[in-house]
Amino acid sequence: MDAILTTSEVTRRRFIRTTLAGGIGLAAVGVRSSAQAAQTSLAAESGTFKIGGDLTVNRLGFGAMRITGDGIWGWPADRENALKVLRRAVALGVNLIDTADSYGPEVSELLIAQALHPYPPGLVIATKGGLTRPGPGQWVPNGRPEYLKKCVDGSLKRLKLDRIDLYQLHRIDPHVPAEESLGALKEMQDAGKIRHLGLSEVSPEQIERAGKIVPIVTAQNRYNAADREWDKTLKYCETEKLAFMPWSPVGGKGGLHNDSAIEQIAKRHGVSVYQVAIAWLLQRSPVMLPIPGTSSIAHLEENVAAAKLKVSADEMASLTA
Ligand SMILES: NC(=O)c1ccc[n+]([C@@H]2O[C@H](COP(=O)([O-])OP(=O)(O)OC[C@H]3O[C@@H](n4cnc5c(N)ncnc54)[C@H](OP(=O)(O)O)[C@@H]3O)[C@@H](O)[C@H]2O)c1
Repeated sequence: MDAILTTSEVTRRRFIRTTLAGGIGLAAVGVRSSAQAAQTSLAAESGTFKIGGDLTVNRLGFGAMRITGDGIWGWPADRENALKVLRRAVALGVNLIDTADSYGPEVSELLIAQALHPYPPGLVIATKGGLTRPGPGQWVPNGRPEYLKKCVDGSLKRLKLDRIDLYQLHRIDPHVPAEESLGALKEMQDAGKIRHLGLSEVSPEQIERAGKIVPIVTAQNRYNAADREWDKTLKYCETEKLAFMPWSPVGGKGGLHNDSAIEQIAKRHGVSVYQVAIAWLLQRSPVMLPIPGTSSIAHLEENVAAAKLKVSADEMASLTA
């Protein structure tokens, strides 16, 4: 099989292999313990961020939506593999995992607890509530206070936690005043069930309005090299020192393959377009916490290895333009 690989594919695979091994030198002499240590801290190469000013995480996280069944519905075909992906993410130094009660629904949270509980110190599980699932691929907001309180209790139980480090309102429900939804989440925070609160798909104005009810520490909006609709929210997060957690960071299910700028840079560095997309995000802003999702261990390793990839200022500019 290797005989028919292109030169750039060979270079790309070598980048991942040597990065996981902790550098060419270590791989060559087979220093196993050093290589393992290098892997444990691989995600740390992305730098750290303090969520809410007191919750330190490595900036490159993991999104646990894709470990569920098709249409983000039900159990995955290979449950063992999903558990392995989660454990491998943590072994590679990822200590921010994003999930939601609606992934499955419930399945992603249950898999996280099964794979990782009792949780290693410092692991932050960020979950979300406020979207219901009538069926595969369907998402309907429900921001009613009583419903959200039940969501929080359900997530606590499934994740086997006493307190959720970061709870994000998945969507502001257009049929419920944001003050009512956030008032309910504030009650849960006051009761000690939530440490920090975040929002998703929000403008700076919506964050400001929410901030009058309860402190907001993160915004999770769709954002990647090809989709910059939420640049304003990113800027706002930078100014206010909130974390910005881009979803679809590598372009979602379709990827970013039609982006010629990314493809050229990937070719030049001998890496994949996914890795360039992640490196671009990490270099774009110090408040950026990408949460690429995958159901594949090979893709996970490739994505985490991107924590080490540096693209030049010119390349950044060509992607950002
Ligand atoms: N707040 C919200 O409204 C919202 C909405 C959507 C998602 N999210 C969160 O954001 C996370 C990421 O979003 P996302 O999953 O939509 O987008 P994404 O991370 O940009 O893309 C995931 C898709 O890309 C593929 N992929 C990932 N790495 C790859 C690689 N190295 N090579 C080839 N294919 C690769 C995955 O397929 P494979 O499984 O085959 O690798 C999957 O289909 C989710 O897990 C979830 O936590 C939040």
